[in-house]
Amino acid sequence: MTSIVLFGPPGAGKGTQATRITQSTGLPQVSTGDMLRAAVKHGTTTGIAAKEFMDAGKLVPDSIIIDLIRDRVKQPDAVNGLMFDGFPRTIPQAEALSQITDVSHVIAIEVPDSKIVERICGRYSCSVCGAVFHDKFNPTTSQGICNECGSSELKRRADDNEATVTQRLDAYHQQTSPLAEWYDGQGIFHRIDGDREIDEITKDILLALQ
Ligand code: AP5
Ligand code: MG
Repeated sequence: MTSIVLFGPPGAGKGTQATRITQSTGLPQVSTGDMLRAAVKHGTTTGIAAKEFMDAGKLVPDSIIIDLIRDRVKQPDAVNGLMFDGFPRTIPQAEALSQITDVSHVIAIEVPDSKIVERICGRYSCSVCGAVFHDKFNPTTSQGICNECGSSELKRRADDNEATVTQRLDAYHQQTSPLAEWYDGQGIFHRIDGDREIDEITKDILLALQ
């Protein structure tokens, strides 16, 4: 089992790129953010425990996240590896992952903080298929209709507001960005300029994965 990690600050485009790359790699996308939002929606024990951290823009405790991933890798579709989006975000999470799967590439999508608030505050996504859009940078072709699946169930995330974004960026710089050095030392870390057109970024990620 050999997996890929998509790494980067909130709003960097991890989810946007993951849905495109998964078609080329064949590896299923695993977003811990999406898994946690589903747990909150269904009122599970994990969801109840995670909600206060997510609403405050803080990282959910490692033990909760690592348990989620340990369960996820038991699914039959994980046998050839997974594409992790937004995991790991701390050194203990990365250490736990290294016990679970080999990681062939860590793709770091780099976007300056000054661009992040606008990206996040304009985001909406499809409740049915998860496709991600933006009011200005990536709108749906027909207003209110998902380009991918045709659903009209488009929604905004509870944590996509300016106050929470600032906190999420702080958490990224303090707890997550040290992982860059950790992975760089292993020779599997690839920096991609994420402040460009979505298609150009996809092209560069696919090149890095060759
Ligand atoms: P999570 O859901 O992972 O949020 P995040 O890391 O803050 O990242 P986002 O999903 O906000 O951004 P993205 O990089 O996916 O960007 P997107 O493609 O959507 O986590 C949420 C919360 O859950 C965390 O705060 C934490 O509490 C908890 N959590 C999750 N994982 C955890 C973990 N491992 N450990 C602990 N806690 C965890 O793009 C953003 C917008 O920009 C979209 O509107 C998109 O259309 C647009 N866009 C994308 N690319 C471009 C481009 N090139 N140019 C212009 N616009 C673009
Ligand atoms: Mg995301």
